[in-house]
Amino acid sequence: MAALGILTSANLNGGQKLAVKYFTVAIALFGAQVLFGMLAGIQYLNPDFLFGILDFSVNRMLHINAMVVWLLFGFIGSVYWMLEDESGIPVVGLGLGNLIFWIFTLAVVVVVLVYLLVQVGPGEQSSIWLINEGREYIEAPRWADIGIVVCVLAFFYNVAGTFAKGKFTNIGGVLVMDLIALAGLYLAGMYYTPNISMDQHWWWWVIHLWVEATWEVLVGCLMAYGLIKTMGVRRKIVETWLYIEVALMFGSGILGLGHHYFWIGTPEYWFTIGGFFSALEPIPLVAMVVHAVFDAGHHKLKSSNNPALAWIIAQAFGNFFGAGVWGFMHTLPQINLYTHGTQWTASHGHLAFFGAYATMVIAFFYMAIQKWRGDVWMGGNLVGAWKWKWAIFLLHAGMITMVMAMLISGYEQSQIERAIEGSTWMGYFAGQSHRWFMQGMFWRQIGGWVFTAGFVLLVWDMLTIGKREKRPAYVVPAETASA
Ligand code: HEM
Ligand code: HEM
Ligand SMILES: [Fe+2]
Repeated sequence: MAALGILTSANLNGGQKLAVKYFTVAIALFGAQVLFGMLAGIQYLNPDFLFGILDFSVNRMLHINAMVVWLLFGFIGSVYWMLEDESGIPVVGLGLGNLIFWIFTLAVVVVVLVYLLVQVGPGEQSSIWLINEGREYIEAPRWADIGIVVCVLAFFYNVAGTFAKGKFTNIGGVLVMDLIALAGLYLAGMYYTPNISMDQHWWWWVIHLWVEATWEVLVGCLMAYGLIKTMGVRRKIVETWLYIEVALMFGSGILGLGHHYFWIGTPEYWFTIGGFFSALEPIPLVAMVVHAVFDAGHHKLKSSNNPALAWIIAQAFGNFFGAGVWGFMHTLPQINLYTHGTQWTASHGHLAFFGAYATMVIAFFYMAIQKWRGDVWMGGNLVGAWKWKWAIFLLHAGMITMVMAMLISGYEQSQIERAIEGSTWMGYFAGQSHRWFMQGMFWRQIGGWVFTAGFVLLVWDMLTIGKREKRPAYVVPAETASA
């Protein structure tokens, strides 16, 4: 065992060695997301910026694709991280897992280069196969789609095979079932039809049923594991919560899909179904907050890894506000009529993706670094703790500034474009060029700079945290059955 504070892979088990590879790529792509988001934001203020070289449509696509892929890499890494620990045996088929990691990463690099260098193609099948499919968030060309399916199948084999051979905990069981649903839904997004309503109908099966059902369940599993690891919460308690959350999540999230079917040409009964079930969606998110805060309070916030715990708590609140409150605000058709596709949507999209998913992946980054440095102290009085504290503060301050700024612009759009001008073409431009709209976009950019500063600090902290620490990690006392 190497000395405390030194980064050596000897401190990690096989699955964890693979996990840190995924985490490294995830952080690089997170950086790309921030970069292209900033460029797209500047273009709102100065539309000539990079015009004809790197247009808004390209920057926006890179921004949100980088997000989806870094979160997926983060999730896959997190699952490999906990796999041997949960199942009690080495990962089954780890060699294949490693090979797939390199193929997956290479494919992502090629796709990004094509987005950047080729950008657009003729309206023919060849463009769908080689350049981009034009489906927001999952624009990857068809060849990459098929590649992703192969990579995910191999990943699934690693996970299901390991749990099947080792111990099948409740977390493991939920995780395996969830991965089947998650991977299966991706196939719905590959269905080709020239009918735009039908295309959108199936495309939402991927997007909505990922973020409001299967990804939520996945972070539920990660939260359960994270709470056991950082605070020693009794397994029975977290697993009971997990089951409650999963039931509520699927109960509301599946038919909640209807809130995307209001205006795309699907039958009218979706107004009722979508409005009703999606309005119930915040309930499981309340359960998640109660769960995390109750456990943290019960253990008097005493954890083996304070940064990870802080990000887990941030996840509980971020998920509740970003998805639950910001989602609920515009989910009833009567309101969505005015807010659909305005900056309200972008405001919600940012707070939800950051609050629910970026936070949880960052918590796992911190858990990984702690062990990578030989289970070093990461409790109170950590040497250089200001860095992680300032990083979490700046990232949140930047995000909240962006989200509030977009919300104000969104209010202005619903008022001027929709309510006053009645959704006319002229109304669209009146809304987009109004002073209040532009001020919101300006403040979004200020928030972006703060967020960028937070990101730089986060990376610096990841590289240095625990380095000068010589104390071993605080060992959380295991809870007894009577607690
Ligand atoms: C973590 C979970 C969630 C994430 C990551 C998320 C993310 C997003 C994103 C990115 C969009 C924009 C999609 C587009 O490009 O058109 C969107 C739209 C929407 N979301 Fe969510 N969301 C989440 C949960 C929720 C919940 C729980 C609700 C309801 C309670 C909700 C209600 C809506 C509605 C109504 C829209 C459509 C907005 C429009 O008409 O323009 N979301 N969501
Ligand atoms: C430096 C920070 C960031 C800036 C300046 C930024 C800027 C932007 C801009 C300009 C857009 C296009 C909006 C539009 O089409 O009107 C966008 C879209 C989006 N961004 Fe960001 N972003 C940043 C960080 C993030 C982060 C950290 C996340 C999530 C983890 C995120 C998630 C999204 C999503 C989901 C969309 C699509 C929203 C929709 O379709 O409604 N962004 N961002
Ligand atoms: Fe949705």
